[in-house]
Amino acid sequence: MSVGRVGRTFLLASVLAGVSVAVLGWADRRVAAFPSPAPPGIAMPGAPFSDGAPLYHRHCAACHGPTGDAEGRLASGPLRPRSFRREPFRYVTTDNGIADERDVLRVVCMGIPSAGMPPSRFLLSDTECAALARYVREIRRLGVLEALAREAKEGGEAIEAGEAEQIAREAVMPGESVPVPPDAPVAPDPQRGAALFAQHCATCHGARGDGRGESPVLADPLGRPVPPRNLARDPFRGGERDEDLFRRVRCGIPGTAMSAFGPVVFSDDDVWCVIDHVRSLRREASCR
Ligand code: HEC
Ligand code: HEC
Repeated sequence: MSVGRVGRTFLLASVLAGVSVAVLGWADRRVAAFPSPAPPGIAMPGAPFSDGAPLYHRHCAACHGPTGDAEGRLASGPLRPRSFRREPFRYVTTDNGIADERDVLRVVCMGIPSAGMPPSRFLLSDTECAALARYVREIRRLGVLEALAREAKEGGEAIEAGEAEQIAREAVMPGESVPVPPDAPVAPDPQRGAALFAQHCATCHGARGDGRGESPVLADPLGRPVPPRNLARDPFRGGERDEDLFRRVRCGIPGTAMSAFGPVVFSDDDVWCVIDHVRSLRREASCR
């Protein structure tokens, strides 16, 4: 017996629990007219993901673990490498909150130095970085497949291999790239930015953006707490450019408490005003 439509939806929902899938309600699904945040000058050279396996074991497994479950020998103490099997990618640019190849490639190439994730672009070629990005996305797909099988078993339902493959493929399929409007408003309204921040962001990030809001800190799927970022002082892990921050607000940070602020909630101008406010909190903090 295979799982019915309702069972299928339930399975997918429970597998993706902890993933704040971005429900952005795009009225107008425009294809991105602006460059994705893949680092400038880095193409996506063709390389099969299998080329990534030996590279992964040499350069990544010490932290992310030989099986990609964040069980590497360095994954203790303050380092919290992503589990590709159990966690979604966080720094995404798509309208469904699923990382595309360029999102993952950006992190592989540039690293996230402030979180202890080293950049590979000095050590590896573009082709090798691309093979690694494909390889870790493949581990993610296998992780979703595993979770499906586990959920089905626990629920006493049988799931056919072909159907499970199909569900897993859909679950890791990135949506459209979220367009970034070319220009911030000429003069973002500081009062509007402050009001939007107080209403939508301060519960987690605190009124001064120091990360000390009132909302309880939620944990990632491995049970490790993910506190809201100190926006006034911490580096931005998904990139420091305006367009990176625009995507962070629009797409949210899947697998954490931070949800997406789609166009139904924030107009493009609202997003720019709120980003401007975040930057002003940084300026204030640097003067203190
Ligand atoms: C020294 C430890 C370390 C090594 C080595 C390392 N990483 Fe990471 N990696 C991390 C940490 C820590 C994070 C989590 C950062 C965060 O939470 O923002 C991370 C996150 C990631 C992410 C998630 C990005 C996202 O959007 O969520 C990817 C992809 C990734 N690493 C790929 C790699 C690849 C590929 C390699 C090998 C070339 C590698 N890492 C090597 C520590 C490491
Ligand atoms: C429900 C809690 C919550 C709310 C509300 C929230 N955030 Fe966050 N935010 C988080 C968490 C948790 C993180 C850290 C995620 C991580 O460490 O990967 C974060 C991280 C960030 C980052 C860092 C991105 C990066 O690249 O490192 C920015 C910027 C940010 N939030 C802006 C905002 C803005 C602007 C708003 C309001 C429009 C907002 N957040 C609302 C929980 C929240």
